[in-house]
Amino acid sequence: MQTVENIADVSGIVGDWKKQQLRVAFVPTMGNLHAGHLSLVEKARSVADKVVVSIYVNPMQFGENEDFDSYPRTLDADSGALVDAGVDLLFLPTDETMYPVSKKLTTQVYVPEISEILCGKGRPGHFLGVTTVVNKLFNIVRPDVAIFGQKDFQQVAIIRRMVADLFMPIEIIALPTMRESDGLAMSSRNQYLNPAQREAASNIRRALELASDAIKNGADIAEEEAKAAEFLRSSGFEPEYVSFRDPLSLAQLFEVQNDMVVLVAAKLGVTRLIDNCLITLRNGE
Ligand code: PAJ
Repeated sequence: MQTVENIADVSGIVGDWKKQQLRVAFVPTMGNLHAGHLSLVEKARSVADKVVVSIYVNPMQFGENEDFDSYPRTLDADSGALVDAGVDLLFLPTDETMYPVSKKLTTQVYVPEISEILCGKGRPGHFLGVTTVVNKLFNIVRPDVAIFGQKDFQQVAIIRRMVADLFMPIEIIALPTMRESDGLAMSSRNQYLNPAQREAASNIRRALELASDAIKNGADIAEEEAKAAEFLRSSGFEPEYVSFRDPLSLAQLFEVQNDMVVLVAAKLGVTRLIDNCLITLRNGE
């Protein structure tokens, strides 16, 4: 695995691959890698000839009072895991590389509406930071295909919109969420939880399962959203939203339809967790 910090080095290496007509897959990350990230890398290996991973804790997507400073940075372990996973190129840009002027004055890529709802409401400016940095990374790496996790369901939906709107010649693949044995979605932020919170945390998955099952059995969407929020409150969470949406547009649903996604964001102490569950009803059900 080659590890580089500069844009020119990435361009040189990827440029050589392109001359050889090799297909390049890209997995952008913020590091502190777990099995969820590594499942994306494994997929990348299977769909392309060369795999590029970036690790960059992007300051632009963190709010003033969020965890940018405390976000876990574990480069040695990450780098070892990526070598084992067969990654060809690890890109570790600096802030000066990504924001040569400043993160405030940089050109922004804004995806309206879909980036303002759900997590966009609770974390204003977050998705503006994500789309801006992913656009920069795409321009540097110039991948044929990029792999994301469905754990961040809204993030992938927004990136798909950006890629379509800006005619970026990049295929986007989204993969299912990897979970701990009790069902908690793997996340770098899980390590902020104390033991009691960690035990309660799997109830976020439970809330989604209960709501999904109820909807499959004909329950009312608004009632189930309220019930799930109440279940989370009784488990010690402070829910931000529980919402049934259209999986493509993320439009709010008032009536049951064949394909749905139920998304949740909830705080456990200071730790904000998200999860979601896709629901497909058989025709006529
Ligand atoms: P990060 O949180 O490091 O996640 C990197 C990728 O891993 C994302 O596509 C995310 O959805 C995926 N991922 C995280 N947890 C997962 C899990 N349990 N199972 C499967 N995939 C999982 O998301 C970001 O970084 C950043 O916003 C980024 C896209 C890199 C832009 O800065």
